[in-house]
Amino acid sequence: MGKLLVTGATGHLGRQSIEFLMTRVPADQVAALARDPAKATDLTALGVEVRQGDYADPASLERAFAGIDRLLMVSTVMFTDTITHHRNVVAAAKAAGVGHIVYTGIQRREGSGFAIDMVTETDMATEAALRQSGLDWTIMRNTLYLDSLPLILGPKVREYGFRVPAGAAAAALGARRDFAEANAAVLTSDGHAGRIYTLGASHAQSFADMARKLGVPYATVDRESFIAERLTDGLPAPAAGFLWQWGKAVAVGEFAEVTGDLERLIGKPPADTTIFLSQIYGL
Ligand SMILES: NC(=O)c1ccc[n+]([C@@H]2O[C@H](COP(=O)([O-])OP(=O)(O)OC[C@H]3O[C@@H](n4cnc5c(N)ncnc54)[C@H](OP(=O)(O)O)[C@@H]3O)[C@@H](O)[C@H]2O)c1
Repeated sequence: MGKLLVTGATGHLGRQSIEFLMTRVPADQVAALARDPAKATDLTALGVEVRQGDYADPASLERAFAGIDRLLMVSTVMFTDTITHHRNVVAAAKAAGVGHIVYTGIQRREGSGFAIDMVTETDMATEAALRQSGLDWTIMRNTLYLDSLPLILGPKVREYGFRVPAGAAAAALGARRDFAEANAAVLTSDGHAGRIYTLGASHAQSFADMARKLGVPYATVDRESFIAERLTDGLPAPAAGFLWQWGKAVAVGEFAEVTGDLERLIGKPPADTTIFLSQIYGL
């Protein structure tokens, strides 16, 4: 195995993936992509080579990917030209001679017909680009991050409980840190080419189940109420509308499937949802 590069290295998932990589391979085998290397001086101090590159600038990506054997492609941020960003990464990896791309996408239920704006279409286009690239690829379909739930549930869970449009459906949610560990496991071992992993908890539960365990009420709310409450919390309307879709995705069962892939890859039970949320909300 040659040199590994992680994109999104100044963000949470990329940074945590690098931390786990460094427990498995020497630091000089790890490179990090940053739009602004000045934001990654902590990684340089750890012996990680930081390379400049922007998903919107294909030439910068091709330069940054030179000599890289395996690449972790962290999905880009929302409200950007997401499909172009991802296609740029795949094309630059091919041009630079990268052998294998590991892509972090989102869990979806095949054939559900449900789409999250900016997410589902981007994922499908990225998966198609990977298949057509001729490179080895692995797709890490991450469930909804537990870490993102405070945005969706809002800050007043202790007063009002869970008020989300999630219905009674079960979801197998997961912690970003576990996904990072799974990324490192896949990047540093063989046998993952052409594999799609669906990563989440080892059992699914509804928001009603989670609320009961945490001792708070649960109400499934309609779109108007959900958005009005998030606006009251101070979110802008596009963000509130975006978050509503994630609750709706839970309601239609997009995250219900349990595969055990995450537990197998990290070799231990994934984060417990109740403990995770009780720590966040002090419940
Ligand atoms: N499954 C879920 O529930 C869920 C929840 C949240 C996010 N996500 C997805 O997972 C990804 C990782 O999550 P996260 O929490 O680590 O997000 P994050 O902390 O916001 O990190 C995003 C990373 O992407 C980098 N980036 C953004 N635009 C870029 C560009 N044009 N070129 C190169 N790099 C760029 C950012 O770099 P800068 O520091 O330069 O901005 C940052 O390093 C997100 O980007 C999003 O696609 C999934």
